Amino acid sequence: MRPTAGMTDALLAIDDLGDDLEAVLRWAIEFKRLWKSGDEVVLNFMPLDTLTVGCIYEKPSTRTRVSFEVGIDRLGGNPLTLLKNDIQLGTSETVSDTAKVLSRFLGAITYRCYAHADVTELAESADVPVINALSDKHHPCQAAADLMTVMEAFDTDEKLRVSWVGDGNNVLHDLMLASVMLGHDVAYAVPKGYEPAEDVVARAHAIAEKTGATITATNDAVEAVSGSHVIYTDVFVSMGEEHLDGKMNDFDGFQVNEDLVANADQDWRFMHCLPAHRGEEVTDGVMDHAQSIVFDQAENRMWAQMSIMARLVDPAAWEAMGEFMGLEA
Ligand code: CP
Ligand code: NVA
Repeated sequence: MRPTAGMTDALLAIDDLGDDLEAVLRWAIEFKRLWKSGDEVVLNFMPLDTLTVGCIYEKPSTRTRVSFEVGIDRLGGNPLTLLKNDIQLGTSETVSDTAKVLSRFLGAITYRCYAHADVTELAESADVPVINALSDKHHPCQAAADLMTVMEAFDTDEKLRVSWVGDGNNVLHDLMLASVMLGHDVAYAVPKGYEPAEDVVARAHAIAEKTGATITATNDAVEAVSGSHVIYTDVFVSMGEEHLDGKMNDFDGFQVNEDLVANADQDWRFMHCLPAHRGEEVTDGVMDHAQSIVFDQAENRMWAQMSIMARLVDPAAWEAMGEFMGLEA
């Protein structure tokens, strides 16, 4: 059952963090700052010491794989990357049996899968923390890094307007949830037939009601972007959808280009989870614009995930580090 507040021993969707989201992100921002300043206490923070973290990938990855491997190493743990063809999962062994076996060896498991039901089953059967490293429905680590990046970029307690232009996909789901969890308004423009999942939208509305955020759904990219502080897009065809011939053709008018961003607030930022298909969902002019923060997002995958992993594996150590860094309990 999904918690209403607080973190459980799994992160399957960003709303699993409940009321902890802001604290997890503030911890990551401060940890990053102190780590880069060479603070000895932070550099020697090793809550994953002696633990091996298994990272399973059914799909390719650049950012997720590298950010987890480096982040686990920096927290004193050993990353063990398991690619689809390395293990028996999905061919001759069930997800549940795999979870039980891996729990005998590993301190935590990250899992990038096709069907969201698979990472849910892994978490239900594992005895160690499980982190969703992208499924067809959710990408919580991306949303954590994204909202961390927004906090760094705007450095304000003011409510922002976060807009999305493109497919109603896994990245939008967690971006929408995370944004309203922090009280930001969301406006998303998708072509007809590519709406985000109804249950996720319902969860987002329930959260927005509590935090005072609004959610606007439209088929008009200009309407979504108008007055926005953040303009976010993602590929039109996600991993696992390559067989959907012609999907691309339904996204005319949904490219983030210089004309579209002219409708945003002057202080706009462009965001993309990457990889980007330049010339499709976004132009070079926007990707490479001084107000594009896509590479900060990519870097922040590691810092946000370090906070999440430390919080899941050793909550007392995570809290003690937060106190050391001067963060409110
Ligand atoms: N954004 C993201 O998850 O990138 P990768 O697919 O390269 O991991
Ligand atoms: N929506 C994309 C995100 C990649 C990081 C996909 O699922 O392929």
